[in-house]
Amino acid sequence: MKITAKELRTKWLEFYKSKGHVDIGAVSLIGDGSTGVMFNVAGMQPLMPYLLGKSHPAGKRLCNVQGCMRTVDIDSVGDASHFTFFEMMGNWSLGDYFKKEKTAWTFELLTEVFGLDKDKLCVTVFAGNESAPRDEETANLLIGLGIKPEHVYFLPKEDNWWELEGTVGTPCGPDNEWFYPLRADKADPVFPDDYVEIGNDVYMQYKKTETGYEPLGRGNVDTGFGFDRMLLFLNGLDDAYLTDLFTHVLKRLEELSGKHYAEGGEVQRAMRIIADHTRTTVMLIGDRQGVLPSNVGAGYILRRIMRRAIRYCRQLGVSSEAMQDVAKIYIREVYNDSYPLLLEKEDFILEEIKKEAERFEATLTTGMREFEKCLQGIARKNEFMTKQNPAYVPETVIGGKQAFRLFDTFGFPLELTEELAAEHGLTVDTAGFEAAFEEHREKSRVLQKGEAKGGLESRSEMAVKYHTATHLLNAALKVVLSPDCNQKGSNINDERMRFDFNFERAMTPEEVKAVEDLVNAKIREDLPVVFREMSLEEARAEHFVGVFDSKYGETVKTYSIGDFSKEMCGGPHVEHTGVLGHFRIVKEQSSSAGVRRIKAVLE
Ligand code: SER
Repeated sequence: MKITAKELRTKWLEFYKSKGHVDIGAVSLIGDGSTGVMFNVAGMQPLMPYLLGKSHPAGKRLCNVQGCMRTVDIDSVGDASHFTFFEMMGNWSLGDYFKKEKTAWTFELLTEVFGLDKDKLCVTVFAGNESAPRDEETANLLIGLGIKPEHVYFLPKEDNWWELEGTVGTPCGPDNEWFYPLRADKADPVFPDDYVEIGNDVYMQYKKTETGYEPLGRGNVDTGFGFDRMLLFLNGLDDAYLTDLFTHVLKRLEELSGKHYAEGGEVQRAMRIIADHTRTTVMLIGDRQGVLPSNVGAGYILRRIMRRAIRYCRQLGVSSEAMQDVAKIYIREVYNDSYPLLLEKEDFILEEIKKEAERFEATLTTGMREFEKCLQGIARKNEFMTKQNPAYVPETVIGGKQAFRLFDTFGFPLELTEELAAEHGLTVDTAGFEAAFEEHREKSRVLQKGEAKGGLESRSEMAVKYHTATHLLNAALKVVLSPDCNQKGSNINDERMRFDFNFERAMTPEEVKAVEDLVNAKIREDLPVVFREMSLEEARAEHFVGVFDSKYGETVKTYSIGDFSKEMCGGPHVEHTGVLGHFRIVKEQSSSAGVRRIKAVLE
């Protein structure tokens, strides 16, 4: 190890203390409720009132290392770089110093303290829009410090503007992001492909309002550098689980399972998920506002995380007691200095892990009985049919409705049912599962609040274009990913569209590109958008997609776009796809379990 976790923590804090900052320590991982965000997702979150103008008892220059939780990427945990819990090294100016000092200090820290090569650093700054000007000032300061002018990139709001999504009244602003080649030894690395973001300096000068942004009347700085990411990267590693935060954990899992992390594949994935999810479990239960597993709110998220870890213990071939062993390593060796509260709460944390594992095992037992019934049903049917007709091809698929019942009533995640089915040479009708799930969701949605009108917030010309683009996207996803992908929701404003759909994993960059290309090809074909009213039966027969539910009434409104897309929908839409311009996917992320979210823009 070139630098250990403990050294990195100290170096960050010592550097900022030498620049007049006070270490304010970390606060609880649980959000304080003021923003409606359940967990702390960024080090700045607890400092919000002070960024808005309240005076902080520790002064105007602050720093810390803050634990954060982000569950949006939970489906990606298991790869080399995603976590649900991570720490953010931060420092702040509360209306004190601004761009000049901040650019100089980040530069000094990276090049002098951490020894990065200034000729390899790349930076991005805000390109400007109607809310805030192009950040020439920061760009010039960076060049003045020694960053190569050709390594300074001006990027739009999607890249270089930081705000806490889904909130109002919170501070935000343009940011300056820092990048370094992941493999520092690579000759002539190309930006951005060969680079990783190591952190950002946000110039928080604005406040989010219902409709846009207003100047705060003062300049704050909010710096965030990912601790776990930095540790990997300063050690020249390309797998975040190989840092000293995880060495002993992986070793223990290897001893218990007799398998090797270096084998890669499912073994490696399971070890990473157990390592990540157990760390998050320890941090949530051991937090000063400790959460316990339950069926609501933060407790439910914790339960999902714990059960996922237990399931992967099973897959790895170790008992759920492995989670307790791993938890002990975090509590006693890895986080003993920085989170002494964990040591005080050790017995409690271990006991709660044990109890949840027992509860899950109990559910598993009743669920297993139900699963056995499914197996017997299939066996009986096969036996009966074969007697009738010796040429009968035996059934090998567990029905979607049965899989949904196992999920809904017995808490079996779909992956668990699939895993068990495979042990008996069977598969699961996952499309049927999704359909049953959707039917269930739709019923509760209708019960709860009636239907929101096509997800449209406004009906401006731009919003109408975005609405048509959602139809193209929906159809393209079915072609590129799977015919079982269906829209689960959408939200449109004049600047972008958001689109949720069912899919079990993150899309690859190639898939994202293929979807973009297909949508753009259909835009270029300038296909006519045709509206027709017809009976529900006709719509069904003609394979229009949409939710077949009584709420549509006898006749339904349909829109087809050439032969490419056919959807039941209330409209309105553009008349020809050619007017949509160019379609670009800005982000693809997890929205909830099994549901992905795409953010896209028309340019
Ligand atoms: N708020 C910024 C982030 O989360 C920097 O702290 O990245």
